[in-house]
Amino acid sequence: MPPLLSLCDINKEFTVAGRRQRVLEQLNLNLNAHSSLAIKGDSGSGKSTLLHLIGGLDKPDSGEIWFDNNPIHSMGDAAISEIRRSRISYIFQDYQLIPTLSTRDNIRFQAVLSGRQDEVFTDQLIEQLDLTDSLDKLPPQLSGGQQQRVAIARALVHKPDLILADEPTGNLDNRNSARAIDLLLGAVKVAGSALIMVTHSDEMANALERVLTLEGGKLIDLSKEPIQPS
Ligand SMILES: Nc1ncnc2c1ncn2[C@@H]1O[C@H](COP(=O)(O)OP(=O)(O)O)[C@@H](O)[C@H]1O
Ligand SMILES: [Mg+2]
Repeated sequence: MPPLLSLCDINKEFTVAGRRQRVLEQLNLNLNAHSSLAIKGDSGSGKSTLLHLIGGLDKPDSGEIWFDNNPIHSMGDAAISEIRRSRISYIFQDYQLIPTLSTRDNIRFQAVLSGRQDEVFTDQLIEQLDLTDSLDKLPPQLSGGQQQRVAIARALVHKPDLILADEPTGNLDNRNSARAIDLLLGAVKVAGSALIMVTHSDEMANALERVLTLEGGKLIDLSKEPIQPS
């Protein structure tokens, strides 16, 4: 089976105050359906930029991004929006819930938008993520941990093919982070989605099937680097 996602020779640079900065350089990646990948890397190494390109929020300067036969690198906004509504979803560090909608409606809104409603799965997610008592509350009435669990439910409710999570527990304490990641991984398994998660935490990264590090504009597998003689 071909990979769900393929990135081929991706280049991306930004110009800030007249200075060009190369962020991604000849980057390659293949990701299979239903698999999970953690991406580590120093702050400013280009992790968020990479997720933006995969999610179609920005375009590479050159190179190709294929998502299940869709050329994300060259598709127009309307076609990309369609894919983002139903097949690729994002989990952000700052949750980005709709503040005027209850927990129930934040989750339902995404389900309706995707055209992939499944009431039984929605109820299962709500229970699994321990959100039953929060259903009528608005995001500002929830703790950080609860808000992140709503964001996870919203990202998964339509069983997207791919979930992009950008430091999803960056605003949570250790205990809440560990819980959110456990719940996220459990729910991803049930939904059958593939997951790419950016994280600074070794512990979280190691909970995923594969760990790569973004360094020098490329994704490298540090576990396969030859050990340097001391
Ligand atoms: N829209 C942008 N305009 C200019 N520079 C940007 C933009 N987005 C990111 N950068 C720069 O690209 C580099 C990588 O940023 P980012 O992808 O956010 O890194 P990370 O998520 O790994 O911390 C940084 O130096 C950042 O300043
Ligand atoms: Mg970032």
